[in-house]
Amino acid sequence: MNTQTATRIPAAIYVFEAPVRLWHWVHALSFLALAASGYLIAHPLPSLAGEAGDHFLMGNIRLIHFISAYLFAVGFAVRIYWALVGNRYAREIFYLPFWRPDWWKGLFHELAFYLFLTRRQPPYPGHNPLAQAAMFFLNTLLTLFMIASGFALYSEGLGSGSWADIGFGWLLPLLGGGEATQNWHELGMWLMLTFAIIHIYMAVRADIFGNGSSVSTIIGGWRMFRR
Ligand code: HEM
Ligand code: HEM
Repeated sequence: MNTQTATRIPAAIYVFEAPVRLWHWVHALSFLALAASGYLIAHPLPSLAGEAGDHFLMGNIRLIHFISAYLFAVGFAVRIYWALVGNRYAREIFYLPFWRPDWWKGLFHELAFYLFLTRRQPPYPGHNPLAQAAMFFLNTLLTLFMIASGFALYSEGLGSGSWADIGFGWLLPLLGGGEATQNWHELGMWLMLTFAIIHIYMAVRADIFGNGSSVSTIIGGWRMFRR
């Protein structure tokens, strides 16, 4: 059966395996912690009275950022491994089948569906082409960029010759130096936040108007279709 344009589909299909579902929620929660702490790093609260070391406010905000950053990065590494060993749906957010005309047709049809130009949404066991494209550009590639630019900034603290410097330090001059890298890193946050808001809206909307289950699928793994 074709993943993208299945016409004869059973009532329910097991789509998201447990590691994908677990990763989704770890990814979403660590992203929210990173966005909140990152925003406060970029736009700090007014200074508190007394010795900075006594309340250690910025230190704790940075600590939250770094703990969630490790969770975010290790989670994504595990997710890449699962794309290699998991089912066919586990690979969908890592590539776009742009060579297939039916994929483009599906993409434009989904756009029409979300623009209220058609009421019909074909059933897709995995991600519909629009979701797949959004996830590839605004999640997979952005996640890679946030991890690389984040660890490049982190290498400034660990110092030259550290593992972070060897692995990611080369990115700093490419992005225009430390300060410019912070700006790119923050821009990445706003892009990903935009994705997350639209993504949650579309996930809930698909549950109400679409042909198959949505939020329950990323919780329980099964996609159920309306007859
Ligand atoms: C989607 C995930 C992430 C988001 C939304 C995010 C967001 C941010 C933001 C908004 C800033 C402030 C930038 C500025 O000063 O203009 C920041 C700083 C920083 N982030 Fe991230 N970040 C993410 C992932 C990571 C990762 C994976 C690391 C890896 C360790 C990391 C390390 C850092 C470091 C070292 C700083 C600079 C801290 C400082 O100057 O005190 N970030 N982050
Ligand atoms: C309450 C919050 C959220 C809900 C209800 C939700 C819901 C969903 C649903 C229903 C799917 C399956 C979509 C489909 O079948 O095509 C999904 C997948 C996904 N979501 Fe979320 N989501 C939430 C938060 C987030 C956040 C904050 C992010 C990223 C920053 C995110 C990233 C993703 C990704 C990357 C996938 C693809 C999973 C995969 O195939 O590996 N989600 N989400």
